[in-house]
Amino acid sequence: MEDYELFDRNTKAFIFGTQTRAGQRMLDFDYLCQRDEPSVAGFITPTGGGYFKLFWGTKEIRIPRYRSIADAAKAHPEADVMVNFASERSCAETTMEALETDTIRTVIMIAEGVPQRDTREIAAFAKKNNKWVIGPATVGGIKPGAFKIGNAAGTMQNIKDTKLHRPGSVGFVSVSGGLSNEGYNICHLNSDGIYEGYAVGGDVYPATTLIDHLLRYEKNPYIKMMVCLGEVGGTDEYDVVEAVKSGKITKPVVMWTTGTCARMLPGQVQFGHAGAKADTEESTAEAKNKALKEVGVIVPESFDDFGEKIKKTFEKLKTEGKIEPIEEPTVPHIPMDYNQAVAEGLVRKPTNFISTICNETGEVHNYCGIPIDDVIKEGYGLGGVIGLLWFKKDLPQYARDFIELVLQIVADHGPAVSGAHNTIVTARAGKSLIESIISGIVTIGPRFGGAVNGAAKHFTWGMENNMAPREFVDAMKAKNVRIQGIGHRIHSVENPDARVEIMINFARKHFPKTPLLDYALAVQMVTTMKKNTLILNVDGCIGVLCVDMLKNLNYSDSEIKEMIDMGFFNALFIIGRTIGFMGHYFDQKRLKTPLYRHPWDDILYDVPEKPEKVENK
Ligand code: ACO
Ligand code: LMR
Repeated sequence: MEDYELFDRNTKAFIFGTQTRAGQRMLDFDYLCQRDEPSVAGFITPTGGGYFKLFWGTKEIRIPRYRSIADAAKAHPEADVMVNFASERSCAETTMEALETDTIRTVIMIAEGVPQRDTREIAAFAKKNNKWVIGPATVGGIKPGAFKIGNAAGTMQNIKDTKLHRPGSVGFVSVSGGLSNEGYNICHLNSDGIYEGYAVGGDVYPATTLIDHLLRYEKNPYIKMMVCLGEVGGTDEYDVVEAVKSGKITKPVVMWTTGTCARMLPGQVQFGHAGAKADTEESTAEAKNKALKEVGVIVPESFDDFGEKIKKTFEKLKTEGKIEPIEEPTVPHIPMDYNQAVAEGLVRKPTNFISTICNETGEVHNYCGIPIDDVIKEGYGLGGVIGLLWFKKDLPQYARDFIELVLQIVADHGPAVSGAHNTIVTARAGKSLIESIISGIVTIGPRFGGAVNGAAKHFTWGMENNMAPREFVDAMKAKNVRIQGIGHRIHSVENPDARVEIMINFARKHFPKTPLLDYALAVQMVTTMKKNTLILNVDGCIGVLCVDMLKNLNYSDSEIKEMIDMGFFNALFIIGRTIGFMGHYFDQKRLKTPLYRHPWDDILYDVPEKPEKVENK
């Protein structure tokens, strides 16, 4: 690459920082220019390694991440550019580190607020070592058809519209990044476009100034004219005056110094850029434009006819036969990011999942439409939340209270019950909380805790088929099916289950009616005639009262059947008893109990002398 060039179609760059959007814009530009390879060789992200996924057209590619500049430079000696997104606190230090490598030749300092002393030190080091720095406080720039720095030149559509995907004949440089995008467009409208364009940045002492780039353009045979936008404040524009005056610059220069409005404003006006303040007469925009004009720079009367001057200059070069006609390249389509296409209503796709119970995508997550802060403010409680998320209903208070009553009642029934026992044994085996409670939860089933749903099903079947209790018990016996919700290992008619009593009393007091409970209690009258432990147990009581509650809430029989078929009614026992399982786990951990081994004297060993021999037929 010639020494007057900074970039070409093979340029490889690092991005210092995690600005993946800027990286994607660079890759999209590369793709638009039909480069053979992406220009981003890697990201330098001291906080983490691995890679980022970006798009190369529609294909996803992985761009490596390096924890240090040294690692990146070692892995990619071909990369000679670093786009430095480091903050003003570390931008100078990391820029110097990059310039000190053997391979990185150009660094772009994006940050604003870099200490001027640091920038001047960097500029001196760069010049001494034939390296280049653009910035600080810049958006960078672009070399049409070859390389784009970060976010420069705006959207891909703008780049296509202003034909920045292929080189023109104009060398452009400005102080301001915002005006550089405007400048590219003005050049596109009034010439065959820019060959390259940069914003040197608005600091008082940019690392490279307008003249540094204009002198590069003077040496570049592909650049036929130059366009420059200076700015009020400082004196860099006088370097252009001297260069034109001394004949260092011979190509036509169209130049405007912005900030002429400063004179109409009272006092010294500090414009947006740190360097944009006219504190002396010579640093005013008028003085600069006057001095430029006096040495033959083409200076418009105002920014309004800046484009006109460019056009006249370009047309003159054309008549002089200095402009080569451009064969417009085909421009590949840059796919739009999916999220943008969705936002613009350009695409749609079927969803894979549906949620009708909650939505976290809005400002506040909501349970069935109730924002969570309202759930708390309005005191929904656990029963109300279960109503919203399970039933999709704003339950009346008695229903919310019943749910919370059940959760409290079933939370635990001692370490001896099978689920708690399994949790304890698993905890004593040194397993984790989740593993220990899972061993308890999987014990819940048709005999322990999981009979709630079965009880709802069996008793509903009996009642819906208008079976008298005796007829129902006989029918289940005939099917050799145990009535779910009937029977207990320790509770009986003489030793009633207080939990069942509590729930029945609650229902009698708060439920408008309890038809299925009444039916189940009538069945209990029959079963306890056979054995006094065949009582309506806690599972059975929960099951029939849940059905009664739903019927009171105007659920249809088919809706209740659907809930029974999905095992809905066991849910309350599972949630509640998990509280107890966790309690047993924590208890064992606190006690530091050892591995459990069952005692032999509690096992009947009834083993044959030898196995039965099976003859092959
Ligand atoms: N329906 C009809 N008959 C029953 C039932 C029942 N639910 N439960 C027991 N019997 C009968 C048995 O068939 C047996 O009769 P048989 O001697 O003619 O064969 C007799 O009663 C004794 O049976 P056992 O299994 O010895 O009774 P046990 O007291 O051990 O059973 C158990 C208790 C496991 C709860 C049992 O009643 C049962 O399986 N019930 C159904 C499931 C259920 O509701 N579980 C929830 C329990 S509460 C909870 O886990 C929180
Ligand atoms: C329980 O709630 O776990 C008990 O009713 C069941 C049992 O085995 O005692």
